Amino acid sequence: MRIVMLGAPGSGKGTQAQRIQKDYGFPQVSTGDLLRKAVADKTPLGLRAKKVMDAGELVSDEIVLGMIKGRIAAADAKRGFILDGFPRNTSQADSLDVLLSTLELKLDRVVLMDVDFEVLMKRLTGRRTCSKTGAVLNIYFSSPAELDACKKAGGELLQRKDDNEDTIRNRLKVYEGQTAPLIEHYTKRGLLVTIPATGEVDAVYSRLKSALGLK
Ligand code: AP5
Repeated sequence: MRIVMLGAPGSGKGTQAQRIQKDYGFPQVSTGDLLRKAVADKTPLGLRAKKVMDAGELVSDEIVLGMIKGRIAAADAKRGFILDGFPRNTSQADSLDVLLSTLELKLDRVVLMDVDFEVLMKRLTGRRTCSKTGAVLNIYFSSPAELDACKKAGGELLQRKDDNEDTIRNRLKVYEGQTAPLIEHYTKRGLLVTIPATGEVDAVYSRLKSALGLK
């Protein structure tokens, strides 16, 4: 199963992709996570990407493609993968087509996570990541038990540098201008399925699984 998760920042792409990975073993390939790791490791690529990410703009296609190529060809992605945050513009979508055809592979589905814009700001300002477990949590929406589990594991709740109101506004603008055109791109190719992505995480997950035909 080769899936692209499409949706605005905060629509729940990462949350849902992590669940599919856990339950079905298809690896989540998140360009955002790969870039944040490069920034944390202070690699030359990470140093180039940091400023752009902090401003909520898109990192260059060349950097992102370089990361994706190796990751898709890795052994654990043989059975399939979930692309989270890639492609992000039509040029990346075209490059993905070329890459997949070189590997004699095809996309099965593109899932659009549909969430009203007002909900996104609250989700993003409230997002926290557990430093120990890596769980993506939310101070407004996660249960006290979920938040406590991080502390009990000896972790701290960290906030992403780009999850401040100004940068979020720019990320949403960039999404509208550069990524949303992919909705039409994949609709024309008959690959797009849209799921309502508001409501409980479990309810969204059920909708996602049925859209993908997963039991
Ligand atoms: P990236 O990391 O991809 O960020 P994003 O697209 O802005 O998406 P997010 O991770 O913010 O949101 P999400 O949809 O995954 O939501 P999540 O599940 O976390 O990219 C970051 C930056 O890297 C970009 O700005 C760019 O600079 C660069 N970059 C990355 N890819 C690139 C590319 N291909 N090309 C160029 N540059 C690239 O959920 C959000 C919050 O909501 C969480 O707190 C979660 O707990 C909560 N939540 C989720 N679902 C629900 C629910 N149903 N109910 C209540 N709360 C929920």
